[in-house]
Amino acid sequence: AYSAEPFVPEELTLGALREAAAGCRGCPLHRDATQTVFGAGDADARVMLLGEQPGDQEDRLGRPFVGPAGRLLDRALEEAGLDPADAYVTNAVKHFKFTRAEPRKRRIHKAPTLREMTACGPWLAAELAVVEPELIVMLGATAGKALFGSSFRVGEARGALLEREIHGRPEKLVATVHPSSVLRARDEEERAAAYEGLVADLKVAAEALG
Ligand code: URA
Ligand code: SF4
Repeated sequence: AYSAEPFVPEELTLGALREAAAGCRGCPLHRDATQTVFGAGDADARVMLLGEQPGDQEDRLGRPFVGPAGRLLDRALEEAGLDPADAYVTNAVKHFKFTRAEPRKRRIHKAPTLREMTACGPWLAAELAVVEPELIVMLGATAGKALFGSSFRVGEARGALLEREIHGRPEKLVATVHPSSVLRARDEEERAAAYEGLVADLKVAAEALG
C-alpha cells in the first residue's frame, strides 16, 4: 500500500519533518507536482488549520494557502477574531493533484482519493504530535475524512465543537466548508451566504480557544 511512513524521521521537530517530507515518495502524487508543500507555522501554535491539498500557486511557491483560497481564508479568520499568524496551517495531502484538459494548459485541481489521504496521513499525525494544537479547524470534507474517516460529512458536522480521540490523543475540533467552495459559488448572493457561513463556523473555533 502507498504510505509516507518509511519517510517519516525519528526526530519529531517541524524542521526535521519538513526536510524529510521534501523527499517523500510515499504515493504517486509526488511525480507530477513541483514540490512537497509541508505545513507552515510555529510548533507552539494554539490552532491547526487543516485543508485538503496544495493548489496551483501553493505547488509553485511551496507554502500552504497562499493562493486565492488562502486570501479568502485569512480574511474570514480575521473577521472571526482568529489571527492567521497564530495558526499552524497544513493540508491532509502534501502534494498537488491535478489534471490538464490539454497538454500545457491550465492545471485543474483533482480531489485526492482515500488511498492518497491515507498514504499522506503519517505526515499529519507527526505534525499533530509536534504542534499539539488546542483546536483543529477542518476546512472541508477531505480534512474531515482525513481525521474522522470516509463517513465524515461536513454539512452535518460543521459549526459545532467536536471532541474526538485522534492518534491516541483527545482533540477538540471544529469543521467548516473549504474556502475554495466559497469561491466556486454561482452568484454573488450565494457567495456572500457561503462566506458568512464560513465566518460563523470560525467564530465557534475562536470562542472555543477563548
Ligand atoms: N486549498 C487547500 O486545501 N490547501 C491549500 O494549501 C490551498 C488551497
Ligand atoms: Fe508523500 Fe503525501 Fe506527497 Fe504522497 S502526497 S508523495 S504521501 S507527501
